[in-house]
Amino acid sequence: MAIDLKGRDFLKLLDFEPEEIEYLLDLAAELKDKKKKGILHGDLRGKNVALIFEKTSTRTRCAFEVAAHDLGMGTTYLDPSGSQIGKKESIADTARVLASMYDGIEYRGFGQEIVEELAKYSKVPVWNGLTNEFHPTQMLADLLTIREHFGHLKGIHLVYMGDSRYNTGNSLMVACAKMGMHFTTCAPKKYWQNEELVKTCQKIAEKTGAVIEQSEDPMTATKGADVIATDVWVSMGEPDEIWEERITDLKPYRVTSEIMENAGSEAVFMHCLPAFHDLGTGIGREIKEKFGLDEMEVTHEVFESEQSIVFQEAENRMHTIKAVIYATVNR
Ligand code: CP
Ligand code: NVA
Repeated sequence: MAIDLKGRDFLKLLDFEPEEIEYLLDLAAELKDKKKKGILHGDLRGKNVALIFEKTSTRTRCAFEVAAHDLGMGTTYLDPSGSQIGKKESIADTARVLASMYDGIEYRGFGQEIVEELAKYSKVPVWNGLTNEFHPTQMLADLLTIREHFGHLKGIHLVYMGDSRYNTGNSLMVACAKMGMHFTTCAPKKYWQNEELVKTCQKIAEKTGAVIEQSEDPMTATKGADVIATDVWVSMGEPDEIWEERITDLKPYRVTSEIMENAGSEAVFMHCLPAFHDLGTGIGREIKEKFGLDEMEVTHEVFESEQSIVFQEAENRMHTIKAVIYATVNR
C-alpha cells in the first residue's frame, strides 16, 4: 500500500501506524543524504509555514526554519509573546486565520488539547513542536538516530531515566511501542507514565512485539541496555519551587559512567537537549548555588563521552522535521 500523508496533522505518534513512521524515517534519511550531497530541490516554493512558539526553543525552531527554507518555503516565527493566541484570540479563530494564509502551522506550547484544537479548526496540517504531554517530532529524530547507529529499531532496548510523565518520557514509550522496541521507564513510581498511556502502549506492543516495562531500580533496569536516555528534571512551564523535590527524587536516576558501564560498551547515551551537565548555563549555576550540584540528569563525563550521540540526535531534528513538512503539505 502506497503511503500518502498529504494533509495529515502531526500531533502525536499514537495517531500513526508503524509503516507511516517508517515511511517518514526513510524520507528523512533520503532528505538528509540529499542535503549532505548539496542537492536541494525547493519543491515547496511559494508555500509558507507559521511557527507558533508559546515556549522557547533552539532546536525545534531552527529545524523548522531551515527545513522550510531548504524546501523553498517562507516562514513566520510567532514568539511566546508575539501573537494574540490564547490571550486576545481563541485557538479556533487563530487556526482559521492562519490556515487562510499558510500551508502548515507548527505549534509549541502547553496542553496537548490546545494543539488538537488548533488542528480541528485548521484546514492545513498542524505539527506539534512540543506540548506538556508529547514531543512527536523529537521522536522521529530519536528513532532515525537509533536506526543510523544500530541499523534497525526492532528489539532495541531503550531505558528512559527520570521524570517519565512528561513529553519526552511519554513519547519515547509510544515510539518504542509502535516500532517493536523494548522500553523501560526507570524512575521512582510517582514519576511513571499514567496508567492509561501505559495500557495503550501495552496494547500496541501486543501487535508490534514491543516490550513495555517500568522499574525503580537503575542497575537492574539498565543492565545490557542499548540506549540510555534522559531529559531535564524540571520541564518548561513548571514552577521553580519544584527543583528541590525533583533533585531529591531523581538524583539516584542521574545517568553516570557507572550506569553506562552497566549497560555495556556498545550502549549509547541520548538526550533531546538542552541538558544540564555542567555549570555552563544560568539555571545550572543557580542550582549549584542553592543545592551544591555541579551536574544534574547526566554527568559531564557521560555527556562528553564517545557513547554520547546527542549532537547527531539534534542534527536529525532538522532532517526529520523536513520529512514531516514535505510529506504532509498539500500540493
Ligand atoms: N529538543 C528540543 O525540543 O529542543 P528545543 O527546546 O531547543 O527546541
Ligand atoms: N521535557 C522538556 C523537553 C525540552 C525539549 C521540556 O518540556 O522542557
